[in-house]
Amino acid sequence: MRHLMSPLDFTTDELTQLFDLAADIEKNPQKYAHKCDGKKLATCFYEPSTRTRLSFESAMINLGGQVIGFSDAGSSSASKGESVSDTIRVISCFADICAMRHPKEGAPMVAAAHSRIPVINAGDGGHQHPTQTLTDLLTIRSLKGRLDHFTIGLCGDLKFGRTVHSLIRALVRYEDIHFVFISPEELRVPDYITDMLKEMGISYEENTSLEDTIADLDLLYMTRVQKERFFNEEDYVRLKDFYILNKQKMELAKPDMLVLHPLPRVNEISVEVDDDPRAVYFKQVQYGVYVRMALILTLLDLA
Ligand code: CP
Repeated sequence: MRHLMSPLDFTTDELTQLFDLAADIEKNPQKYAHKCDGKKLATCFYEPSTRTRLSFESAMINLGGQVIGFSDAGSSSASKGESVSDTIRVISCFADICAMRHPKEGAPMVAAAHSRIPVINAGDGGHQHPTQTLTDLLTIRSLKGRLDHFTIGLCGDLKFGRTVHSLIRALVRYEDIHFVFISPEELRVPDYITDMLKEMGISYEENTSLEDTIADLDLLYMTRVQKERFFNEEDYVRLKDFYILNKQKMELAKPDMLVLHPLPRVNEISVEVDDDPRAVYFKQVQYGVYVRMALILTLLDLA
């Protein structure tokens, strides 16, 4: 039995197979419409979500399966003090696979250790969000035709943004990736990530200005300032609108630069950018469904 805790749980060859499967699902959805007949997905979400939970549910329904679960800890027995390890033992009696989001880093890993069914980390605190990374990689591969030889800018909250941490860890395995980290001083990418890049000899730069760097980028990954991870409201208010991508800034960018965002967006991308063909963050959501369908099939050994 296999779980998904980190984007590194799959080799690059396995990722290629997963993305090939997702691409086939996109082209031939009917071929997969009954692959999960009789199977159940449990979505155990201890933290809010729109995309991840609903795209998992949509993915399972598209495969012919069914969905059970809870969308906040308050409506589950966690509110009475039940542990994650007991909850997953119980869920193992009800479902064939589980997607879990939790505010505590490592909670899905605890669940996996006590589970009789595959567990997917659907985001754990400020740590990892591997299925967002699969979504990001599939989007890039589908729209650019490759996952190597890019200069990628990651902009916004690089300290608390788990999607950024997962994406960097996944991209370092591809050739000739140059990272441009664009953030306020207080929200710089954690040292453990820059230490990893130094050790691996991967090139990166850090900058506070989006205007000064945007012209060099092949990909721009915008992120929201993670309000829920701040200890202090005053700091959040000071930093939340530090970057706003607008039409003027897009004029400085390459004609084929793609703008990605894991969403939800708050103010960091002006709505006037949405009609720019380079803005692909809503297409990205659709790729998230295809890749989660491919993941469910792979983990259930039905691919
Ligand atoms: N991208 C993402 O994780 O969105 P949700 O928080 O809505 O699931």
